[in-house]
Amino acid sequence: MTVETAKKKVILSGIQSSGALTLGSYIGAIRNWVELSEEYDCYYCIVDMHAITVRQDPETLRRNTLEQLAQYVAAGLDPKRNVLFVQSHVPSHAQLGWVLGCYAMFGELSRMTQFKEKSAKNAGNINAGLFTYPVLMAADILLYQADLVPVGDDQRQHLEITRDIAMRFNGIYGETFKIPEAHIPKLGARVMDLQSPGNKMSKSEAASGGCVGIMDKPEDIMRAFKRAVTDSGSEVRFDPETKPGVSNLMQIYAVCANKTLPEVEREFSGRGYGDFKRSVGEAVIETLRPIREDASRLAGDRALLAEICADGAERASLAAERTLRNVYDKLGFVLK
Ligand code: TYM
Repeated sequence: MTVETAKKKVILSGIQSSGALTLGSYIGAIRNWVELSEEYDCYYCIVDMHAITVRQDPETLRRNTLEQLAQYVAAGLDPKRNVLFVQSHVPSHAQLGWVLGCYAMFGELSRMTQFKEKSAKNAGNINAGLFTYPVLMAADILLYQADLVPVGDDQRQHLEITRDIAMRFNGIYGETFKIPEAHIPKLGARVMDLQSPGNKMSKSEAASGGCVGIMDKPEDIMRAFKRAVTDSGSEVRFDPETKPGVSNLMQIYAVCANKTLPEVEREFSGRGYGDFKRSVGEAVIETLRPIREDASRLAGDRALLAEICADGAERASLAAERTLRNVYDKLGFVLK
């Protein structure tokens, strides 16, 4: 086998450091990152530059970024096996972001659902960064020549535009970027809000009690599940159309208890919603307990976190700068 064919496939993904990770981002993304890290060359970043598209308090952002790194490690991402890094530590992201902005169209960016939703929520601050957000995300992915991008269902559209931008660039300048594929889990790709199961669980909605954070205390998690909105009737049956609340809880339970949906239906047949919700709460508490404990301990070790960041930034920069240099060359920039 040649060196080229023996090379492992590459994965890149990231999460904004705009608050503690949620059960949604754990189930939709991180859990799968851990699984994939066995087989692939993985780059997992903390996207602080994306986080500032909505206003952040500087001290809180700094703390969230480091604590998120602690949560990555506590969730099972070994910093030796994976490249764990902070986006703003690798300047190539901003540099390629600018270039790709010249190959992304105003019309296609205007159609992004996340832009429309965030604009509606932040009507007083519809800044240009919010609009070009997917371009920076495309740079994150394309810099590493990623084959796969493990994300939740809400990022599907951003993956599509990344592919479109990459193909457009390749079409003009020849093969430059690997065209990445989204990797979206079968179960838990869209964890819904416990209070309004028609909406995605999101940290920006934490105040309503419908969002569970991975660092939440067990008693708060149990309260959130006991209060979770269910549906009329009493049957635990998977049917997202007519039973969105119950179906959401079933998916969460199936993932945390490692069961299939039919197994969950059988387990709770003839038992009431109260019993079911308590079991979901317990399964989530037990899944998150070791992560929360480890993350709290690691978050206190700022020297270790700084070391992981520095090592990650160095390894990420190596790969990213190679792509950026090639792009600059193709564009006709005079190389230093
Ligand atoms: P973000 O920070 O909103 O979410 C991080 C990841 O968690 C997934 N996720 C969910 N999955 C299922 N159910 C939910 N309720 C839920 N909430 C969040 C998201 O799909 C995502 O995978 N634009 C990205 C961050 C980003 C990125 C990247 C991702 C920046 N650059 C490069 C991949 C590759 C975002 O806002 O995710």
